Parts: sequence; structure tokens; C-alpha cells
Amino acid sequence: VEELEEAIKSMRIRGAPALEVAGAFGVVLACMEKRNLLHAAKRLLKTRPTAVNLSRGIERAMNAARGGKTRDEMFELALKEAGKIMREDARRNKLIGKYGAKLLRDGDVVMTYCNAGRLACTDYGTALGVIRTAIKEGKNVKVVACETRPLLQGSRLTAWELLEEGIDVTLITDNAGPWVIRKGMVDKIVVGADRITKDAVFNKIGTYSLALAAFEHRLPFYVAAPLSTFDFGREEKDVKVEERDGDEVRYFSGIPVAPPVKVYNPAFDATPLDKVSAIITEKGVIYPPYDSWS
Ligand code: MRU
Repeated sequence: VEELEEAIKSMRIRGAPALEVAGAFGVVLACMEKRNLLHAAKRLLKTRPTAVNLSRGIERAMNAARGGKTRDEMFELALKEAGKIMREDARRNKLIGKYGAKLLRDGDVVMTYCNAGRLACTDYGTALGVIRTAIKEGKNVKVVACETRPLLQGSRLTAWELLEEGIDVTLITDNAGPWVIRKGMVDKIVVGADRITKDAVFNKIGTYSLALAAFEHRLPFYVAAPLSTFDFGREEKDVKVEERDGDEVRYFSGIPVAPPVKVYNPAFDATPLDKVSAIITEKGVIYPPYDSWS
């Protein structure tokens, strides 16, 4: 359990759907190690507070484990549930891909942010799943990936995933994003999400500036996420945005790039739902007004 906590905190496991699966397997580990399950679940929950999927995975495995009378039974039931969540993830991503691909046209250039690909899930990806499916369907779709400071999920993960598959991808700095939109170099934006409340979409810090630019220039801004990312019982103000260590900003690959200055390093931002053109889920595409879905 401690190893898993460390892997999540240091982001060797990251991305909302991957956290959901990891959370469930965390409960399995706690059963295996004969821990106090509630205590282990609380510790796991604290590792990254913004992605609601982590808590969803933990809750599902905990509920399953509660059905067992002995420790062994609890372990078996939690393991079964965690495996189910893992398989569900790949399946729902393919469905998100299928529904989302209908929104992309032949010749589109799609901007994406952070990494909402298979490296954030068990397989296929949410935002990148949409792009993958459109390309598989024969559409010529190109991608603009923003590098995603400070941890560079866009360059290290998204660009890598797409290149590996032979998908045409151009990497830009985050500060170039709104300008690239203004210059008309992209047609659509598709991003993932860590939590969708009744009024906002939480995603990697920097998403909001792209949503604003897209709104200003009348470009579609799509969010691709499984239903387990929805938290319509809460509002933006109820959600804790994770703040990460300032050294992620003061250092770049271990090299100091700033004096020992005070740093504010939020990991996520919230984009109001009125800036979101549609949300692509495994059950179909949801259009505004979103309040009718809550
Ligand atoms: O801090 P990270 O890398 O876990 O942030 C990930 C994101 O913001 C993703 O866009 C989101 O989790 C969706 S992944 C399908």
C-alpha cells in the first residue's frame, strides 16, 4: 500500500482513469496485507484529492470487500471488482472514442492538453481515444499537443504515444496555445477531465486558458471523460485543487531554473461548463444545458 501511495504521489501512476483502477487495487493490496481497510482507503484517498475517479475506484472495491466474511473472501471480492474496473476502463474508452470520433471531420487539426491517452488509463485513452478512433475510421486528423508545464505530460507522454502510433503530432509550448488557436491553426480542442461538477470541468492546470481562447474564437471545446469522472452533486467551490511542491517549478529535470523563490503550483484548474461545447462519455455525447443531466 505504501508503494502504491508513493507511486501515485510521485505520479508514476497518474491520469484520472488510471487512478480509479489503482485505487481499487490499493484496496486489494490492503486486504492482502491484512490492513485496516478504512485506514488504508483514507490514506490512498489523500494522495491526490482532485481526480474523483480515485475515490470511485476505492469505494467500489471497498463495497465489494465488505461482502466477504473472512479476510480471504474480502480479498477475492475486492480483486474481482478491481479487475472488473480495469476491464471496464478499456471498454468505455473505446465507446468514448466511437461517440467522440463523430465530432471530428476529415482534415481536422485537434489540440489536446496534458495526457488523456492510454498512459492515463488502462488502454486506449479518452481524449486520445477520440482522435485514435477518428483516424482508424479513415479521417485525416492531425494533433497539436501542448507540452503541459511543469511536469510535461504533453511532451513526455502524449507526443510519445501519438508518435509511436504514427499519428501526425506537433508539439507546442503551453504559452503558444491561445496564439495557435487565434492564428486558426486548429479546428477543435479535445481534453480529458479529472472531475466534472455541476458547474465546471477540472483538468490539468492550463486547460482553462485554452477553453477561454476557444470560446473567444468560436472553436469547439470538447471534454472526453467516463461517467465515473462526473460529480454533479458538488460545485466547483467544494473541490480541493491539489497544490504540488514548488520544486517542480523551481527545477527542470533536476536543474535549478529559478532562485529559491516562493511558488504557487496548482495541479489543476476549473473551466466553467458554459465554455464547454460538449462532453463525450461512454453513453454518448452530452450537450448544454448540462444541468438537466445532474
Ligand atoms: O496530474 P495528472 O497528470 O494526473 O493530470 C491528468 C489530467 O489532467 C488528465 O487530463 C485527466 O486525468 C484525464 S486522463 C484521461
